Amino acid sequence: MRSKGTEPKKHDGATIAVLGLGHVGLPTALCLAETGRRVVGADSDAAKIAALQRGECPFYEPGMQELLLRHRNNPRFQLTDDIESAIRAGTILFICVGTPQRENGAPDLSQVEFLAHCIGRNLNGYKLIVEKSTVPAITGQWVKKTVSRHRRHALAAEIKNRTTYGKAAGFDVASNPEFLQEGRAIKDFFHPDRVVCGVETVRAQRLLADLYRPLNCPVLFTDLNTAELIKHTANAFLATKISFINMVSDICEAVGGDISQVAAGIGLDARIGRSFLNAGIGYGGYCLPKDMRAFINLGEENQVDVSLLREVEAVNNGRVRRFIGKVRQALWVMQGKTIAVLGLAFKAGTDDIRDAASLRVIRMLLEEGAAVQAYDPKAMENARRTMPEIAGRLKYCASAPEAAQGAHALLVLTEWDEFKTLDLRQIRELMEVPVIVDGRNLCNPAEVRRAGFEYLCMGRTTPHIERRARRTTLSHKQPARVLSMPRRDADKGTPLVLPLEA
Ligand SMILES: NC(=O)c1ccc[n+]([C@@H]2O[C@H](COP(=O)([O-])OP(=O)(O)OC[C@H]3O[C@@H](n4cnc5c(N)ncnc54)[C@H](O)[C@@H]3O)[C@@H](O)[C@H]2O)c1
Repeated sequence: MRSKGTEPKKHDGATIAVLGLGHVGLPTALCLAETGRRVVGADSDAAKIAALQRGECPFYEPGMQELLLRHRNNPRFQLTDDIESAIRAGTILFICVGTPQRENGAPDLSQVEFLAHCIGRNLNGYKLIVEKSTVPAITGQWVKKTVSRHRRHALAAEIKNRTTYGKAAGFDVASNPEFLQEGRAIKDFFHPDRVVCGVETVRAQRLLADLYRPLNCPVLFTDLNTAELIKHTANAFLATKISFINMVSDICEAVGGDISQVAAGIGLDARIGRSFLNAGIGYGGYCLPKDMRAFINLGEENQVDVSLLREVEAVNNGRVRRFIGKVRQALWVMQGKTIAVLGLAFKAGTDDIRDAASLRVIRMLLEEGAAVQAYDPKAMENARRTMPEIAGRLKYCASAPEAAQGAHALLVLTEWDEFKTLDLRQIRELMEVPVIVDGRNLCNPAEVRRAGFEYLCMGRTTPHIERRARRTTLSHKQPARVLSMPRRDADKGTPLVLPLEA
């Protein structure tokens, strides 16, 4: 889709205003500009707009910096912190603001309501108002009502000024939930599995069909409520897959078995699929935890039995505690130990640390009296801002080897490729005690054990190996004893026939 080095395309369709330029809005605005659309990107954060105008991306997303530089001087792509002018300039208005979680678990929709209000007051002709933010069912109806209520002011102003009376009359609301994954947002925009559009009029359907035609992908048109439900259902299902495999991982540890091979074995079944079946420290990030809460809340408000979803959440909430148990099992006493943490972002490919399991792990380590030396390829700045350094207790390091220096254990918390290719010999030499506790099953067990590490991971152990690991105490600076597993293919990390996902 992208045409490097050539002039941006031009498309004569309706002008688009993207309201809110965060992890969803910014890729949406830039990718729509890339399809040739005239786009106005607006955000209430003036500093963010100024940075974007200087060509600086406010967060890390592969390919986005390149797109920003390509469109920064494109006259058909504008950036502004004047939300009202963006509303007036656009015909299709994408709402991409945050919907954070409130104390009681319900989503805070005040940013969406604020925009609905603003849109109502600035209706200067037909608008298609599209919710891209993740919102619970019936939010679209509230957006409609709010725009209508405040539209009266726009009409009154027109009557008073005797200018464009009647032009403010028309608008539609649509729901177009976003399914992009951070770390692959641009790829997901241009190659979506599907696009979902909840519409109420033929006009809205035509505008959205025209908008997404260049993507050449399935577009599912539904009613408004259904589209909103599809987004929450998708995230609840993905969260369920993760908690399910984590529960099975615990069973593997209890009775002996390899969760990676269990996942491969069920994932090859076309009815199940392999994705979102990686055992580990659980899901995090801005979407799954809060969207699960919002969906549970929606069910509870409507007297639906959502105990299945509550269990999914409970399993996830227990993952960090279980992981810390493994660290304790490896170290015995945590007080006074130095622990290297590799990975802070909630997943690889992003610098986003919102609701990242890594931060919960670090907090618990600090509470138990350990000192932490942390490193992440992209998320250091965000982590520093959220959890500032504490002299002698929490230090951010410039590399994995620096984090490993003098450590009694090294924890892998994010599945960055960089951590798959660590120089194990160098890391072992740097560490006080060569112990790896792998929360993402990123390492090859046989390889790290051969390199002299005591290695604990999630659901890839057999009971007798675990017992031996517990008995093994490693003395100061002594080369670690290799805990050999019985020679079998599962141990080598290579499958009998089919390639396994790492
Ligand atoms: N992050 C993801 O991977 C992802 C994926 C799918 C859906 N979503 C959903 O998309 C929505 C946005 O998520 P995000 O991660 O982009 O959030 P974000 O916090 O990264 O971005 C929100 C942006 O909206 C801006 N904003 C707030 N009020 C505004 C206003 N009145 N006018 C204009 N701009 C305003 C903020 O300054 C911020 O830049 C949420 O509902 C989220 O659940 C997120």
